[in-house]
Amino acid sequence: MKTDRRLIQLFTLALVGVATGCGTGLGQAGLGETLKQVFQDNFLIGTALSLDQINETDASTDSLIKHQFNAVTAENIMKAEIIHPEWDRFDFDAADRFVHYGRRNDMHIVGHTLIWHSQLPPFVTRITSADSLRQFMQHHIGTVAGRYADAVDGWDVVNEALNEDGSLRQSIFYNLLGEQYLIDAFKLAEQAAPSAELYYNDYNNEQPAKREGCIALIKKLQEAGARIDGVGIQGHWHAGRVPFEEIEKSIEAYAALGLKVMITELDLEVLPRNFQGADVGRRMDAKDPELNPYVNGLPDTVLQQQASDYEKLFSLFLKHQDKISRVTFWGVNDGQSWLNYWPVSGRTNYPLLFDRNNLPKEAFYRVIGTKKRSD
Ligand code: XIL
Repeated sequence: MKTDRRLIQLFTLALVGVATGCGTGLGQAGLGETLKQVFQDNFLIGTALSLDQINETDASTDSLIKHQFNAVTAENIMKAEIIHPEWDRFDFDAADRFVHYGRRNDMHIVGHTLIWHSQLPPFVTRITSADSLRQFMQHHIGTVAGRYADAVDGWDVVNEALNEDGSLRQSIFYNLLGEQYLIDAFKLAEQAAPSAELYYNDYNNEQPAKREGCIALIKKLQEAGARIDGVGIQGHWHAGRVPFEEIEKSIEAYAALGLKVMITELDLEVLPRNFQGADVGRRMDAKDPELNPYVNGLPDTVLQQQASDYEKLFSLFLKHQDKISRVTFWGVNDGQSWLNYWPVSGRTNYPLLFDRNNLPKEAFYRVIGTKKRSD
């Protein structure tokens, strides 16, 4: 079965290669079926874009993105440290290009993210008064969400406000403004971008305690009259340890609050880690070679485990397609995934559906197969 597929793929590649006279990067163009086509009646299929990808620096990757995905999230360039580097200075250069990219290619555009404790510019981390921080929030959300009011389809308004036990994270926002900052953020975003969807986004919010905290947070917003349209479950999981049952319970629980559910940052890590989730503030010691075991390639057993987890995940997503509006991968191919440099720098990781040559992995075919079996 697998060999047959590889042969067909090679044959298709060869045909397209001959037809176009190009030798590389044609896997995506040569594939009969693409993610966005296969799931077009179910949910959007997104990816996060790095600056290089927004700038279309690599033709093969660019072609893959345009063939496979119909939604894009800015991986970094809309975060406050980049888009708002100083109190009275914004830098919209990369963000403007990101938005144009999405529009030109008829993609759903996600803004990521307005209020987050990480990747803040130094001037914000130095703020010590509630008034100044409130002023920053007004200025920041008003200007950024306002500029893209007609272009960005949905905003991750607040990112990662919760601790693992479901309580609110002691971020600068919480410490100076209390929980009111959540309500303010959503109200400011609605004012600035009335037609954009507004989301709360977090990792591990499929786990029971954090899910309860997330539900309480959403209810607080709703009771305060702030509009929230969706909740993002980031989905930074480990191959072999995907919490399928909790994911299903979470999809149901969030949908029951009247919200769209999105998987916003999907990747399935295959390397060792001593913690789960995606707290970017956590790192591990890089010296131990056992932390980087697959420098020369991924063993087939791990590749198959990952493929089978991706398959089970997409079967679950299809089962709940009435509740799920988008599934976004955090990156395009294994070579450029953030998991090559976090939480340990310089590792060789394999978390996505496409390999370092932009060729589909076993997981890609298994994901596509879930749709066939559901028809
Ligand atoms: C990550 C980016 O992928 C990295 O390039 C950057 O160095 C750190 O942030 N949760 C989020 C994302 O919401 O913004 C993070 O993105 C990954 C975890």
